[in-house]
Parts: sequence; structure tokens; C-alpha cells
Amino acid sequence: MAKYRIAVIPGDGIGKEVMDEGIRVLEVAGARYGIEFQWDHFDWSCELYKQTGRMMPEDGLDQIADHDAIFLGAVGFPGVPDHVSLWGLLIPIRRHFRQYINLRPVRLLHGVFSPLANRSPGEIDFYIVRENNEGEYSEIGGRLYAGTDEEVAVQESIFTRKGVDRALKYAFELAQQRHRKHVTSATKSNGIIHTMPYWDERFEEMAKAYPDVTTDKFHIDILTAHFVRNPDWFDVVVGSNLFGDILSDLGPAATGTIGIAPSANLNPEKEYPSMFEPVHGSAPDIAGKGIANPIGQIWSGAMMLDHLGETDAARLVERAFETVLAESEVRTPDMGGNATTQEFGYAIAESAARMS
Ligand code: NAI
Ligand code: MG
Repeated sequence: MAKYRIAVIPGDGIGKEVMDEGIRVLEVAGARYGIEFQWDHFDWSCELYKQTGRMMPEDGLDQIADHDAIFLGAVGFPGVPDHVSLWGLLIPIRRHFRQYINLRPVRLLHGVFSPLANRSPGEIDFYIVRENNEGEYSEIGGRLYAGTDEEVAVQESIFTRKGVDRALKYAFELAQQRHRKHVTSATKSNGIIHTMPYWDERFEEMAKAYPDVTTDKFHIDILTAHFVRNPDWFDVVVGSNLFGDILSDLGPAATGTIGIAPSANLNPEKEYPSMFEPVHGSAPDIAGKGIANPIGQIWSGAMMLDHLGETDAARLVERAFETVLAESEVRTPDMGGNATTQEFGYAIAESAARMS
């Protein structure tokens, strides 16, 4: 029997509501495939911040360093500035554990309304690979002459060969396992004249090592337009931290509600635990009402199973929610239904239990 220790961080708002459903469905899949989970809960959140002045204890990272994976709901809540919740919890986890890949699937499912006209399932099915540790999101910079009319703000971007290459390599290897074997690079080497030509250069160099993978590249501005007009062009799209961030909200938005989109923060070498979380935040506007869509959390759980090597269980979880969406009317209000978070979670868990 395989056994995994999972650090569970439900976080704030609807994070705490959808987490229960994620665990419920994974338990069903685990029981089917002889997988035992040990769920260790950590109450790291804005609530904890209000009590202690910290999003997590000082030795927080040590407490979860030996877990097999981290399963996170969402963090952030009114009253605590977003940069505190982000830099006090999510970013330290992503960086300290070298989760240098942020992976997001973009897939149009049966039974899900897409805001793009005339698109059917199968036509939109790709992955966004975002560099998750460096790039535009760096702490290097500062402000001079604050408050005067000579005020200056400087923010440096960091592109290291190691950091760029490992993100590109991951994208090419992912494409190699896929049917279409195609990688698209997001760039802006016409406007950003140092780091982006460097990114392009490394992309071309990496491509040489994968002759079976075809490539193309687009500047980020026209690429966002193609995401809307030609989403069927894409198989694996790789981008820097900033470009990947933008694309990875746009992609899932084009395939339905933000409530179903999953993501993985990966340390591909498995030297450190990876973290799995829905794309959405803590949704203070609906928190406490029990109506949050749990699919983003459940699908993130499937990505966690994949990372742990439990691919059969991962496929079971995916088929379970795909079946509920395609064959039933059970849905939370964001998808036009009137089910609660729990009812939706139970329906998916039952579907997983019945699946042959
Ligand atoms: P949000 O994703 O929490 O909400 C945006 C909109 O989508 C809201 O109208 C919300 O009701 C709806 N929504 C989100 N998830 C849903 C679900 N599962 N089911 C149904 N509807 C859903 O983004 P927002 O409002 O910008 O941020 C709220 C807080 O969450 C902020 O404090 C922000 O910093 C934090 N946040 C945290 C993230 C994380 O933990 N990774 C990611 C994004 C935001
Ligand atoms: Mg984002």
C-alpha cells in the first residue's frame, strides 16, 4: 500500500470550504487504488496573521519540508494586504522549495460553457508552463526621492541561464509526452531588449535538443489575442513569470469559470515537496455561503496524484468530475446551478466510487 503524507493548508475564505471536497474525492480514489493519505492540517492563514503577526510560524517551511506534497486552498482576506499573504506564505513556499514550474492545464470540458463562441471540447486542450521562481517578480529594486517630483521606482528582472533553461526543458519534455508535440514560447523581444532576446536565444538552443518537437513563438500582446481567437493552435505554451501569470488566468477564463481551474507548483526533481492549489483565490464575496465550486481544488488533487506517480488514480478523479459535468445537472451557482459546495463534492465522490 502506497502511503503519502500531505501537508494541508486550507487557508482563508472558500479555501477552507473547497479543501474538504478535494480531500473527500482523493480519499475515494485512494481507496480504489490502495493509496493511503495522511492529511496533516496547518492553519496558516490571514486569521493566523491577525493573531500572531505571521502567516505561518517562523519554522513553518521546516514543518512541511518532509511531506510528499502540499495541498493548498487559497490565502488572502480583506483586512490583510495581499502582498502580506502572498509574500508571507505562497512565495516563500514556491521559492524555498524550488517550485520553479507553475503548470496549468487549459481544457474545455463537456458540459462547461465557454465564453468563446463555437468551440467544442477537444479543440482546446493545452498546458501553460510558467517560470515560477525568478523573472519579473524579484525583490530587487527600490525607490528614490520618494514623495518628491523626482521620485523614481526601479524593479529589476532576473533571468538566469539555470532558471530559464529548466523552465524551457520542462516544457519540451512535457510536449514530448503529448500527441501534438508542440511548444509555443511567449516573448516580447521587440520591446524588452535584454532579457527577452536572451529568453528567445535559450529557447532556440533548447529546441535543438528536442528535434521531434515543433516550435513557434509570439510576442505576448498578439499571443493573448491568439488565445481568444485561435486556442486550438496550442499544445504547450511556455512563458516567464509575468507572461505565464497573465496567460494562465486568460487560458482558464477562456474555457469556463475560474472555479474549475487547477494549478501545480512543481519541483520536478522531487527534491522538495510540490504544491497543488486551485487558480482562484479566497473569494471573500461568497465565503461562508457554501456555494464555492470545488472542482478547481479537486482537479488540483488529480495533478497531485499525477506528480506522486499515481496516474490511474489521477485519471479516475478527472473522469469523475468530467462525468458529473457531462451527464448531470449538478453544479454550483457560478456554473448556473444551485448545488452547494458539499453537494457538488459528494456527486463527484460518488461518481468516482461508481467509475469502472
Ligand atoms: P478570487 O479568485 O478569490 O475571486 C474572483 C471572483 O471569482 C469572485 O467573484 C469569486 O466569487 C469568484 N470565484 C472564485 N473562486 C470561485 C469558486 N471556486 N467558485 C465560485 N466562484 C468563485 O479573486 P480575488 O477576488 O481577486 O481575490 C480574493 C482574495 O484571494 C485576495 O485576497 C487575493 O489576494 C486572494 N488570492 C489568492 C490566491 C491564492 O491563494 N493562490 C489566488 C488569487 C487571489
Ligand atoms: Mg495570477
